[in-house]
Amino acid sequence: SSMAPKVLLTQILPPDSQKLIESAKDIELVYWDKTGAIPREKFLELAKGVDGILCMLTDKIDSELLDAAGPNLKVVSTMSVGYDHVDLSEFRKRSIPLGHTPGVLTDAVADITVLLVLAAARRIREGFRAVEKGEWIWSPTWMLGRIGSATALRLKPFIGNNGKIIYFGRVEKPIASSLGATKVEFDTLIRESDVICICCALNEETKEMFNYEVFKKMKSNVILVNTARGGIIRQDDLCRALSEGMLGSVGLDVVTPEPLNPNDPLLKFDKVTVVPHIGSGTLETRTMMANIAIENVLSGVRGETLPHAVEV
Ligand code: DGY
Repeated sequence: SSMAPKVLLTQILPPDSQKLIESAKDIELVYWDKTGAIPREKFLELAKGVDGILCMLTDKIDSELLDAAGPNLKVVSTMSVGYDHVDLSEFRKRSIPLGHTPGVLTDAVADITVLLVLAAARRIREGFRAVEKGEWIWSPTWMLGRIGSATALRLKPFIGNNGKIIYFGRVEKPIASSLGATKVEFDTLIRESDVICICCALNEETKEMFNYEVFKKMKSNVILVNTARGGIIRQDDLCRALSEGMLGSVGLDVVTPEPLNPNDPLLKFDKVTVVPHIGSGTLETRTMMANIAIENVLSGVRGETLPHAVEV
């Protein structure tokens, strides 16, 4: 009926989740049914008067959008763990709860992180290119990685216990101790690491934390992997560092902007492997994320506490 709370979904969900949200009989569902991010104009238009929004990390949620939605809006639920696309101060101001999907994508993203470490360490992009171009040769030293690859291959749990894990930022104590990981200063981390994996949230503290000054301090053979957010790396500086011969190998699941222009200077470096933000991209993971996002949006429009709310 026209009294049912209206929920705007900005992308079709994985099949089981789409069925789940369509089976919620107490809401009126509106959704954008084309593949790819909803155009901003459409988003602003469809948001008008809705009670709940289930959005993606590609949808900017700011004052303009919240104003467009208007006073009926009771909840925004993003199908992502990250919420750097959301202006939290607006949520604070308006006391609207924000839901996200922590936990369920951890394993999938960790897999891509490991994949990128190995891809970077073993120079997989150069390997693929050599296969495609018919430049594949066999010689005792062709395509041999250097120190970085040997190091990566020694990382737990690949080969033995020779690798030492250091970290900066937040790692839960029990996890850190089971890995034998040691907390260090950022400066120590960047100077001493053979493999650096960026896995943190993008926020004011981490924005462009990896810049030219930082790259200069890194080992010349360092393997740098980012599966968090492109904005944590100042990408112009990364290109500059690479063109000056710095850094051993780079693996990126996240870049600036997304999608990356195929002509972007970053892609001309053979030692950079880019994958298209597929960290959480398994059907199981995306379904779990979508289901949590559904729980969040339905709880919100029903006036209940969100099971997975962001602290705003
Ligand atoms: C997230 O959930 O923030 C991830 O980036 C989605 O892939």
